[in-house]
Amino acid sequence: MMAGKTLKVAMLGCGVVGSQVARLLIENKADLSTRAGADLELVKVAVRNPSAKNYGVKAELLTSDLNSIVTDPQVDLVIELLGGIEPARELILTALKNGKSVITANKALLAKHGAELYAAADKANVDLYYEAAVAGAIPILRPLRESLVGDEVLKVMGIVNGTTNYILTKMDENGAAFADALAEAQKLGFAEADPSADIEGGDAAAKAAILASLAFHSRVTDADVYKEGISKITATDVKVAKAMDLVIKLLAISDVTKDGAIAVRVHPALISRNHPLASVRESFNAVFVESVSAGQMMFYGRGAGGAPTASAILGDLVAVARHRVSGGLGPRESDYAERKIAKIGDTKTRYLIRLNVADKPGVLESVAHVFASHQVSIQTVRQSGAGDKAELIVMTHISSESALSQTVNDLAKLDSVTDVASVLRVEGEI
Ligand code: HSE
Repeated sequence: MMAGKTLKVAMLGCGVVGSQVARLLIENKADLSTRAGADLELVKVAVRNPSAKNYGVKAELLTSDLNSIVTDPQVDLVIELLGGIEPARELILTALKNGKSVITANKALLAKHGAELYAAADKANVDLYYEAAVAGAIPILRPLRESLVGDEVLKVMGIVNGTTNYILTKMDENGAAFADALAEAQKLGFAEADPSADIEGGDAAAKAAILASLAFHSRVTDADVYKEGISKITATDVKVAKAMDLVIKLLAISDVTKDGAIAVRVHPALISRNHPLASVRESFNAVFVESVSAGQMMFYGRGAGGAPTASAILGDLVAVARHRVSGGLGPRESDYAERKIAKIGDTKTRYLIRLNVADKPGVLESVAHVFASHQVSIQTVRQSGAGDKAELIVMTHISSESALSQTVNDLAKLDSVTDVASVLRVEGEI
């Protein structure tokens, strides 16, 4: 450790992740300080109610005055773990303005107000680091921002929400219904009491926006992300997928259209059981990246949880502390490419459509006619059941989202189609 230099660290929030950050910072202080090149001293932890429980830090470090953390002149580095938009936004802006480097795991805030926060960090000449905001412990933001900055990223496709991946894994393993798998996830503490941000794709959409911004050097916010969650996935969808050697995953995908716009979306999709992402089970996360020179890569690990997320935060803490010691700053946000955001209707993929139909002559012809009328090419059709219980399963070739949705609207109007039971996108080779 460099003699004499001390950096004072303060935390906003001390919940599941924060208490692990504090514990590891105290327990591993000597090693972390040596790696940083300065003595890292935890000086304050702000929580709403300091007497509510044992936070694992000395009582004299605790305060309920959140503002005192970001205005205290002795504090060098602030770790924000409150989550949510306000007061986190206001507090981070004040910390940056006051010359403190900030480390945060707040994906919702970064996806909505990233530009404002980066500008404030630039203006104050301090660091804003947030590796833990996407996929918890998995190093993925630094690889995109630094290791792959010399390459051209083509596509980022990730399983970035552990709750939904756990639910889909249970549906796949046991044939469980969505509601039962969700109840199990809640019982085991994976899913929140109000699980809507996870299951409707909001959490993954914020992460998709952050990943797409870094991968494509452009500004992408959560409002730019098309999102569909997993609450409509049925046990039958999973069973049909399984029979075709496919698996359903909630994917956060970004790539570039032929016009150079970024298509960024979160939705359930079918992938081959041979795809590397298919082996990502339970609450694990993974991000699959394709770039021109490096080819295909996958980053895999724990996407949530106290100690795993704390690992990413402490990595940022040491990195930011090193910059303080050396006098420099880490790489900045890069939005020079200024790519536009593609409309969801312009994105292209393959689809698997299940139709409940009457089993009589001419039905297949009328169904095929609807696909043809919207220039959607069919790859395979198979029928299961007969009579009132006939089902057609249609796999298309690559088609635009808008052509497909017009096709589905028209299919629903056919007398011979009782019901469009499901429409699922297909990603990758199958
Ligand atoms: N709720 C998230 C998940 C973790 O289930 O993966 C925090 O983003």
